[in-house]
Amino acid sequence: MHKGQMPRRKVMWEVVTVVVTIYAAIEIPLGMVFPVIRNATVLIVELLLTGFFAADLVYRYREARAQGPEARARYLKSWIWIDGLATIPFGTVIATPFRALRLLRLLRLVKLLRVSSAANRLKNVQIVNPSVVRMAVLMFWILLTAHFVAVGWIALDAVDPALVGSARYLQAIYWTSTTLTTIGYGDLTPVTAPQTIYTIFIQILGAGLYGFVIGNIASLIANIDVAKTQFREKLERINTFLRYRSIPADLQTRVNDYYEYLWNSIRGHEEATILDELPLSLRTQIAFHINSEIIEKVPIFQGAGEQLIRDVILNLQATVFLPDDYIVRKGETGREMYFISRGSVRVVSGDEQTVYATLTDGQFFGEIALLLATERTATIRANDYCDIYRLDQDTFNRIIERYPSFAEHIREHAEQRRQEMGL
Ligand code: CMP
Repeated sequence: MHKGQMPRRKVMWEVVTVVVTIYAAIEIPLGMVFPVIRNATVLIVELLLTGFFAADLVYRYREARAQGPEARARYLKSWIWIDGLATIPFGTVIATPFRALRLLRLLRLVKLLRVSSAANRLKNVQIVNPSVVRMAVLMFWILLTAHFVAVGWIALDAVDPALVGSARYLQAIYWTSTTLTTIGYGDLTPVTAPQTIYTIFIQILGAGLYGFVIGNIASLIANIDVAKTQFREKLERINTFLRYRSIPADLQTRVNDYYEYLWNSIRGHEEATILDELPLSLRTQIAFHINSEIIEKVPIFQGAGEQLIRDVILNLQATVFLPDDYIVRKGETGREMYFISRGSVRVVSGDEQTVYATLTDGQFFGEIALLLATERTATIRANDYCDIYRLDQDTFNRIIERYPSFAEHIREHAEQRRQEMGL
């Protein structure tokens, strides 16, 4: 199991907690305005709920204890009260003739505070788009609010007395929806003073909620693809600059094509900038993850040991070359070698009249100058867009020194290529 990832068992427990809490949040208020049925099923459900809440308390305590004495102390100071009070089965099992005491059942609802934090953790698991989670949580709170408001309306005896059971609830929820959405048909209106005061409150709440929801949805939509928005803004800045500097039109097009490629291939993420912000340990892990793709593609790495791969991976730098770009020029001093992740390049003579070879995914070049400390023996140009990884000379030398069999492999390749060129 990867460190930091939630074990399945924990995820299951979170899910069950959320489901049970939501059930309680719906059922408890209803139990206050509708006559409580006391049959065996209800009692069993209540006992199960109580058992669950007790188990949850023990679970949370043990979780906190496992995290260390500080977390344990924090739990004993705060959440244990909430979890403890939620466990006591006021109202049904502990029957009380006083209506006010039944209100104590509402204590179970404080567990709802955990729903949002559970949803937050879900966001981190990355299975679902965080914006979608936010939207779902928002909807959940709105629906739950509507439920409470409707129950309040029933509690104030505002519903038509002729209606019974679910019809009562339906009318109450209808009143709630017309009031909360500020539509207010006015077909159901308050009669008594408490009902009127309640209505005023709900109207004000509705207006606020309406604004809140609209604002939230607007920001959600804006945030669904922040990367794209930022990328577009960046491109706009670049184009302004290009125009201001009167860069030739075809060069401008090339720059734009490059960014389009960047967006399509790696979503325009500036790896280097993002990685720079991270602490070394995280950066290492991420580099490992990103670059392991190229390791899988390159045949000469296949038999290599893990240590070698680690050494290489951490020092690879991803770059992009555009069609016809010069990657290496004959006669230059070589300071790095290259691995092709995607794309194809041609190896040509200095005058570009002879094509020695075409290299594609998984192949490498630029090793001769490094191995023999000579000038580049050929020119290399990109045939199309190429994702290429660079390995600097220092790392190359270190690796050649440390891993003789790998060095031997590269030497063979270099020797063969030199022969092909007639050197
Ligand atoms: P280097 O001399 O550093 O730079 C040019 C590169 O072209 C060279 O290393 C080799 O990696 C590559 N190269 C040269 N000749 C061939 C060939 N015949 N086939 C494939 N690659 C070659």
